[in-house]
Amino acid sequence: MYGEEIDRRRFVAALPGLAAVFGATGCAGAAYLTPSVGTGVLRIGSAEVGTGALIAWPGRDRPIFVSRSPGGVWRAVSTRCTHRGCQTEPEGERLVCPCHGSEFSRDGRRLDGPAQDDLRRFPVRVVADALEIDVSGAAR
Ligand code: FES
Repeated sequence: MYGEEIDRRRFVAALPGLAAVFGATGCAGAAYLTPSVGTGVLRIGSAEVGTGALIAWPGRDRPIFVSRSPGGVWRAVSTRCTHRGCQTEPEGERLVCPCHGSEFSRDGRRLDGPAQDDLRRFPVRVVADALEIDVSGAAR
């Protein structure tokens, strides 16, 4: 039903994810912001994030997308698609899965596609000029 082939447009859309994998393994071309890591918490400067950015999640194969709503609320969601686990990528106001086309809002709500569930959300605390993303509840 869902082909394993991806077309050129979707492959190109996945390139930032591939660059991040190389960056996370020490190769040139890291595309994700690198947070400092505490116990169950990832910290990143809010100025670095701007209105939205992909944050590496050390030890995990998918980054977290952190964004600020027009109302100023910070949100953090897993980029792991809830359909079959591909990495969603930010495209404008949506996160789009290059594998089978599921789409999610920036706060993780499922909008379209074969995925049936929302993206996983993580609490975000603002501490001075930094964001603390609470990943303590995430199972390995
Ligand atoms: S893995 Fe199938 S739509 Fe994302």
